[in-house]
Amino acid sequence: MKRILKILGVLLGVIVLAIAGIAAWVSLSDMPVYPVQKLPVNLSVDSASLARGKNIVENHCAHCHRGDDGKLSGRLFSPESEGFGEIWSGNITNHPTLGLGRYQDGEIAYLLRTGVKRDGKLAGPFMMFPNISDEDLAAVIAYLRSDAPSVQASDEKHATKYSFLAKALIKLGAFKPLPYEGKPIITPPTSDQVAYGRYLAVAVYECYSCHSASFETNNVLEPEKSPGYFAGGNPISDHDFKQTPSRNITPHPEQGIGKWTPEQFQMAVRAGVRPDGSVLTMSMPRFSMPEEELSAIWAYLRTVPALQATVTASGK
Ligand code: HEC
Ligand code: HEC
Repeated sequence: MKRILKILGVLLGVIVLAIAGIAAWVSLSDMPVYPVQKLPVNLSVDSASLARGKNIVENHCAHCHRGDDGKLSGRLFSPESEGFGEIWSGNITNHPTLGLGRYQDGEIAYLLRTGVKRDGKLAGPFMMFPNISDEDLAAVIAYLRSDAPSVQASDEKHATKYSFLAKALIKLGAFKPLPYEGKPIITPPTSDQVAYGRYLAVAVYECYSCHSASFETNNVLEPEKSPGYFAGGNPISDHDFKQTPSRNITPHPEQGIGKWTPEQFQMAVRAGVRPDGSVLTMSMPRFSMPEEELSAIWAYLRTVPALQATVTASGK
């Protein structure tokens, strides 16, 4: 009996030591550094590319990167209370040392594809665009390099402080960069409305990422494999960190938007007004994309499987 107790005691001691060791390693070791590549970027600064880049940056990137000064100087993206620490989106204005002045074009491209910053550290799992076309990626970079008011140098400076949990997830490899395979990615032709709409909803504006079951279960590389694809229910924070579950925007006639007209859909996406006149919370961004993009997204959403999912909390 005594012997067993002694063995158990030693085992317990070993376990406690191992846990303490891992905890010390998580809190004290440096964050992992991944190899960085500079991708070839075919930067064209004609007015069509700049307009394209402006549309994507102002409608999507700005949702997370617009700071208090009105420029893309970064904002508090996730407060301590959400568990990952105090996470700020970066200053992506043209500031030479605090903003993208320190990045080369090819480093911005690699970051957007894989999530690896120019210093080799992971920009969290929050921001990866593996499926955006090479052409649209170049247009985004062209706009970031322009003299548009949103990207003029801002000297806002904020430091992200990861929590123990976020550090553990990154160091143990649960949050990691996406693989980069280097195969060319082209924009589907706009004449193929469904394919083009899928591209916009998945690769460019990432509607699916908020509108599927959970960020934790989304499949970034193959979005269609995300559980609850477009069926909503994912709790989304607004800029004041108040959460609203996203809604089911599959063609389900009762739970989804199967009975909506294209005009009602446009009204909701542009102005945040639902067919019954109620106003969506600011957890749903307001998009001012061109008409033909909205029609393509609508055409695509008609084709996704109609799922039944009940949205909880504020949801009806
Ligand atoms: C869902 C929110 C979100 C969206 C959308 C988003 N970002 Fe980010 N971005 C972040 C966060 C958060 C960080 C900082 C992560 C960190 O430092 O750990 C970041 C970091 C960056 C950085 C690195 C800055 C630095 O200082 O190293 C660049 C560049 C960037 N984003 C560009 C973009 C562009 C371009 C787009 C649009 C195509 C975009 N982001 C869309 C949240 C977002
Ligand atoms: C940052 C997360 C986020 C992104 C990105 C996003 N949505 Fe939403 N969306 C929401 C949330 C949250 C709601 C519910 C808001 C509420 O109930 O007040 C919503 C509501 C909607 C509604 C209203 C549905 C209903 O039944 O009332 C439509 C339509 C919609 N989104 C379409 C889109 C489209 C199209 C895109 C991409 C262009 C998109 N959303 C991108 C978070 C998002």
